[in-house]
Formats: sequence, structure tokens, C-alpha cells
Amino acid sequence: MALLPTFTTFVSVCVYLGKVFAYDNSYYDNVAIYWGQNSYGATSSNTAYYQRPISFYCQVVLVFASVARRDSFWEPKDDAIDALPVAFVDTFFGTGGMPTCNPTDNATFSGTDLANCSALAADIEYCQSQGKIVTISLGGAGGGVGFTSDAEAQTFAQTIWNLFLGGKSNTRPFGSAVLDGVDLDIEGGGSTGYAAFVTEIRSLASGASKPYYITGAPQCPFPDANLGGVIDQVGFDAIYVQFYNNACGLQNYRIVSDWDFGVWDMWARQTSPNANVKIYIGAPASSTAAGSGYVPISNLSTIAVQMRRSFPSFGGVMLWDTSQAYANNRYDLAIKQALSATGSTGFTYPPCSAAAYVSGQVYTAGETASYEGYIWELTGPIPYPVVVARVAGVRCLCGVVDTAVADDHFSDHFKFSPDRFNYFLICK
Ligand SMILES: *[C@@H]1O[C@H](CO)[C@@H](O)[C@H](O)[C@H]1NC(C)=O
Ligand SMILES: *[C@@H]1O[C@H](CO)[C@@H](O)[C@H](O)[C@H]1NC(C)=O
Ligand SMILES: *[C@@H]1O[C@H](CO)[C@@H](O)[C@H](O)[C@H]1NC(C)=O
Repeated sequence: MALLPTFTTFVSVCVYLGKVFAYDNSYYDNVAIYWGQNSYGATSSNTAYYQRPISFYCQVVLVFASVARRDSFWEPKDDAIDALPVAFVDTFFGTGGMPTCNPTDNATFSGTDLANCSALAADIEYCQSQGKIVTISLGGAGGGVGFTSDAEAQTFAQTIWNLFLGGKSNTRPFGSAVLDGVDLDIEGGGSTGYAAFVTEIRSLASGASKPYYITGAPQCPFPDANLGGVIDQVGFDAIYVQFYNNACGLQNYRIVSDWDFGVWDMWARQTSPNANVKIYIGAPASSTAAGSGYVPISNLSTIAVQMRRSFPSFGGVMLWDTSQAYANNRYDLAIKQALSATGSTGFTYPPCSAAAYVSGQVYTAGETASYEGYIWELTGPIPYPVVVARVAGVRCLCGVVDTAVADDHFSDHFKFSPDRFNYFLICK
């Protein structure tokens, strides 16, 4: 008889979980992890941590809590991951005019190099049933991608729609599984056509029975060499900024002039066509996952929580990749717990204290000023001369020009300071 309540509890917990953990793009604690490349396997021979099927990373495991106490119930073991971009469609126009996915360890459709991974359909659908989104990621570091025109990009959008999303094709790499959107990890091949591509995907998805998400994974230097102009033109749902392999990476978080999450937040709120776009901290999930940018979990947690409390566009953390995170002591679960402890929803600006920036005023190094709703700290030569005068050849990070002094670029000389976010200003 004891089994009956247990079973009832089990069922109700499942239903409950299904509601609570449905993907919500507006949350502040989402974790996105790339799957598909077995990045851990590239540098380690320990097959125990090699990539597992995608469904393995989606299991909200229900455990039998206590036999001894006879108060049996089931509870979720963990639910660390919210979004799984599948990496990668790395060639847009391969054999037979079809795209190519890598790695290709299965049969390909006749006349193409497009892998037939239809065996993955059930696994992907399982992840979706657990409230996760699974997207197809285009590009990657070694990608042979790019368009020559908007028309070519639009046609390719139809191909992607038919192969992976809500369209139809005889050559769907994941069979019946209907993925939840597209991630653009474009690291070469220029910007041509991507805005048209996104617009076409949005158009095909309009009126669909479920939401489709568009995400991008630019490098942290702002603006991104390939996606910079694209994300200015068309709305994205989330930007997984790669804070690694660059000076602006997580390893330099404490260097004011390097860490630029604030610049991305400013872009999100002032430039992005989608004012609700979410910015993620993209991080390597272990020391072997990237050339630079890996930081221990305690550091990433501190940084992510600080950004979450400082910037309203913050959406969570992106990790590269599932295999690395699992091999590194569940780095994914640890960051999820740090984020969730800070809350999925709700944002309040910290109180402000820095004085408002005054055009033409002399500032010395280390001084802070508030400007455009942000706290900045002066960088540059010490002591700085008559500050805030434009220096030839210095890129204006945010395109902010003070109207009071025509040739006066505030952001040439002030950088966001991670130490000063406590004094964050929105005093309107
Ligand atoms: C794709 O693979 C599945 C499973 O191996 C097979 O049943 C199907 O016929 C293949 N599709 C094509 C078009 O080759
Ligand atoms: C590749 O094919 C094997 C055997 O047909 C199958 O077990 C495996 O799941 C497939 N892998 C993918 C990624 O579809
Ligand atoms: C981690 O954080 C500690 C404490 O702030 C700092 O001293 C250390 O340099 C950080 N490590 C990395 C790799 O950023």
C-alpha cells in the first residue's frame, strides 16, 4: 500500500517539473551548453568522460530518497541545462548543394555529405520533453561558412528550416525531431547575408505552433568581426558572448579595460532591435576547452552573480561543451546552482553613488563617473591630461558622443569597472 502514495507523488512531481522547468528566455539563470563535438575527447584518452548521447544531459533524474526512513519520495537530481545548441553545421554548401554537419560518424544521405543521424531524433525529443530547447548551431571555429548575397542566405534559411526546424524534407539529419531554433557561431566568412537569413527564419517561424529561438555566439571583443553588424540589424533572442580566447576573456575579469560585459549590456539595451535580448557569459567548461578564458568554478560563479546583479540583459551562462563540463566535476551544475540561488526572475539596480560625468572636466585615473546609466572608471595614461578629449585612432566603444562637446568621446577613456558595479547608476 505504501507504493500507492509514492507513485502518486512521482506522477505529480513529474507534472510539476514539466511546468516549472519549461524553457523561459526571460530568465536570468539559464545555462546553455553546446553538444555534438566531444571536445573533451580531443585532448584526453579517458573515454569515461567522452560525450554521451544528448538525452544523457537532459535527465531530470528522480531518485528514491530514503528506504530506511520509509518516507519514500522522488525528487529531481538535477536540472542544470536549459538549452543545447547542437554543434555544428560547419559547411553551408557542400556536395549536392547541401550543408554538412561535423563530426560525420554516420551514414550520409545519398549524393550529399549530410549525415543521416535520424537515430538521434528520439534523444532530442526526450530533451525537449524535459523542457529544454535544442537548437542547430551553424559555423564553429573551423567552419567553412558564408554567403555571397542576401538571396543566397534566404534560400539557405529555407534549407535549414526544412532540414532541422518546422519544414519538411526527405533528408532531415535528425528525422522527425523539430529543433527549437538556430544558433549562429560565425567565426569567419564575413557578415553578408546573415541578417537576411535571420529575417527569413523568423518569417518561416511566424505563426508556428511553438516558438523558435535565434541565438548568436560572437567573440567578446566588441563589436564582433562577423556578427557585429548582423545583431544590430535583426533581433536575436540571446547572445552567447564567448568570453574566452581573447583579452576580454574571463581570465582578465579584474582588468577594467579588458572586461566588457557592460558594453554588451549597453548594446542590448540601446542598439539591439530586440530590447529584450539576453546576454550570456560564454565560458570554457574546463581548462582544456579553450586556449584561454577558463577560470575555476568559484571565480565563474562570483563573476556571473555579479553580472546578474548589475546588468538587466544578463541571461545566464553558455558553456563549451557538455563533455568538458561533465569531466570537470559537473561545472554546468555548479554554475546553475550559483545562478539559481540568485533568482530566475526579478532585477533591481544596485544603489548608485558615482557622480555624473561632466563633459570637459579633468578626471584622473581611477576616478569613476556615471554615464548613460553605467558606472565607469577612468583608464589610460596617468595622470590623464584634459580628459575626455578625443584621441585620434582610438575606437569609440559605444559610439557615444557628448553633444556638449562635439569632438568628445567619453567611452574612449572610460571603461566599465567590475569593481564598481555596486555603485551602478540608474537614478531616473
Ligand atoms: C536515414 O537513416 C534511417 C535509420 O538508419 C533510415 O531508416 C532511413 O532510411 C535513412 N534515410 C535516408 C533518406 O537515407
Ligand atoms: C550512428 O549509427 C549507429 C548505428 O547505426 C547508431 O547506433 C548511432 O546512434 C548513430 N549515431 C548518430 C549520431 O545518429
Ligand atoms: C579567481 O579569483 C581569485 C579571487 O578573486 C583571484 O585571486 C584569482 O586570480 C582568480 N583566478 C582566475 C584564474 O581568474
